[in-house]
Amino acid sequence: MLNLVLFGAPGSGKGTQSAKLIDRYGLYHISTGEVLRDHIARKTPLGITAEKYITKGHLIPDELIIELLENVIDEQAQDAKGIVFDGFPRTIAQAEALEKILADRGSKLEAVVGLEVDEEELIDRLLKRGQETGRADDNMETIKNRLDVYQNQTHPLKEYYSAKGQYLPIKGTGTVEEIFHTIVDGIEEKLG
Ligand code: AP5
Ligand code: MG
Repeated sequence: MLNLVLFGAPGSGKGTQSAKLIDRYGLYHISTGEVLRDHIARKTPLGITAEKYITKGHLIPDELIIELLENVIDEQAQDAKGIVFDGFPRTIAQAEALEKILADRGSKLEAVVGLEVDEEELIDRLLKRGQETGRADDNMETIKNRLDVYQNQTHPLKEYYSAKGQYLPIKGTGTVEEIFHTIVDGIEEKLG
């Protein structure tokens, strides 16, 4: 099993690089943000709850998102060669839960790929995508909240995973291809 976390701020390229990694290694992609947006579109009870948080740029409560992740793994990724976790974990509690979920299934995390991009570029990318696709949380007010939430609640995971020797820092600027090659080189070096 090759289980990877794609870690980084809103707009750092987690979704873009996940798509390339699943192609390269034949992995299953779980983006908790995409799963939530699908629930919102289908107006499920979870979607109705999640929309209130996403619109503000706040995190969905840990218990809800952890239960959701566990269900997606068991219902959709049972036979996968490995999973790319995109946008999960975002809190220490989620990181601890992920470790347990994988251990219970006889598996573990191989690496946490951290896409590092400065805030000015993040804001440019998200505003541009907001104009192009109309994604509801890509507006200046919500972007600011998402970046604050990232700094306060999610960024501490960099230290957490660095201490475990699992964090792989990646310069997240340049072309998509350049960044992808840096990630692949980093993963292959880690796997030995
Ligand atoms: P989520 O959907 O995960 O959004 P996010 O973290 O804000 O990140 P984005 O999807 O906006 O960016 P990305 O890093 O995937 O970058 P992308 O590749 O798209 O979460 C949304 C919300 O759901 C959260 O705010 C929260 O409310 C909730 N949620 C989700 N997970 C949760 C969890 N675990 N716990 C609690 N709540 C949770 O790229 C961005 C743009 O830049 C694109 O337009 C792309 O084309 C462009 N781009 C990519 N790479 C480059 C490059 N190298 N150069 C120039 N442009 C680039
Ligand atoms: Mg994304």
